[in-house]
Amino acid sequence: MSINVGIIGTGRIAHMQLAPAMQHIRGARLWSVLSRDSQRAVNFANQHGAMAPVNAYDSLSAFLADPSLEAVIIATPDALHARQAIAAARAGKHVLLEKPMATTLADAIAVTDTCREERVKLGIAYHLRWHDGHRKVADMLHQGLLGKPRYARAIWTWQAEDNSNWRAHGELGRWWGLAGVGTHCMDLLRWMLVPVSGEVTQCTGTVDMSHYGGPHDETASVSLQFGNAVVADFTTSVMFSTPSRFELYCDEATVICEGTLGPTGGGSITINNAPLDFDMLNPYVGEIQNFVDAIEGVARIAVPGSEGQRNVELLLQAAKSSGHMAESEEPVT
Ligand SMILES: NC(=O)c1ccc[n+]([C@@H]2O[C@H](COP(=O)([O-])OP(=O)(O)OC[C@H]3O[C@@H](n4cnc5c(N)ncnc54)[C@H](OP(=O)(O)O)[C@@H]3O)[C@@H](O)[C@H]2O)c1
Repeated sequence: MSINVGIIGTGRIAHMQLAPAMQHIRGARLWSVLSRDSQRAVNFANQHGAMAPVNAYDSLSAFLADPSLEAVIIATPDALHARQAIAAARAGKHVLLEKPMATTLADAIAVTDTCREERVKLGIAYHLRWHDGHRKVADMLHQGLLGKPRYARAIWTWQAEDNSNWRAHGELGRWWGLAGVGTHCMDLLRWMLVPVSGEVTQCTGTVDMSHYGGPHDETASVSLQFGNAVVADFTTSVMFSTPSRFELYCDEATVICEGTLGPTGGGSITINNAPLDFDMLNPYVGEIQNFVDAIEGVARIAVPGSEGQRNVELLLQAAKSSGHMAESEEPVT
């Protein structure tokens, strides 16, 4: 049996990563595509080999009305996620939702609650959890092999050419660098540290948005305290590009991950200066395979709605505490 998976949105991540990854998923196939533009949907469906007899749609209700469609991957601007995910769940489709799962906490909760009520699976697409090297580090940390963690930090930036991207504006996004990559850093730190150090007890942000003068963060630094005396921070920016880095300092080990924060599953990792061997696995294949396996009942969703919800809550706290960013908490749905 093959699970029929549709994709909503034909943008960068759908085209570059999600649709290509679908070709490598056991027990599932790309079934159909939804775009705002019918020709774009047809082109995308043809290019990526969507298998449905009618495989391209420009209407959400028509796309979801296909009884053979079982699951959707939502890869649209952040503020659209909640409405689309709730519609998909109400139509009985399982949902793999891109990050951040929503732009308000109320919407994040509504998505999680609706998926639970409708008894469909909900996964949040934090692909860095499927980087083989990160998984090895997390396993060692969680087994106590690195000693007690004391401090961790991450930096992930890119240089935007201008402020034309939807993330820079209030209609379709809520944060810029913090939503592009900061939410991944937040998830990576929580995934690593919460099981051994407890939940985040304090989250503060420092944000600069002076270059373009828009409503969203250009450079942001977020400090976190985890329950049991662990401090962490991460920096994001759309103003400069630098190699990504994740560092974890424990009583018995120093872990340095260089270039691992990205789409490839590559980079390098050392533990106490010794290289860590890991396989360069496509992390998007890992995240979609987990989603499909969960639908089939042979795995648990690795990143459930509750994790995505907490991430949104902390991003909002970081932005709010910076004193510069809008505090509105109106649900979009
Ligand atoms: N996990 C990751 O590694 C990763 C990486 C990048 C992005 N993402 C996430 O994936 C989502 C999409 O990001 P992206 O970088 O792929 O964005 P993008 O290139 O701008 O693509 C978004 C797509 O959404 C559709 N869309 C529907 N309504 C839209 C509207 N009003 N304005 C603009 N686009 C609209 C468009 O497809 P149609 O024109 O066909 O409707 C558009 O191509 C975001 O939530 C982002 O955070 C995740």
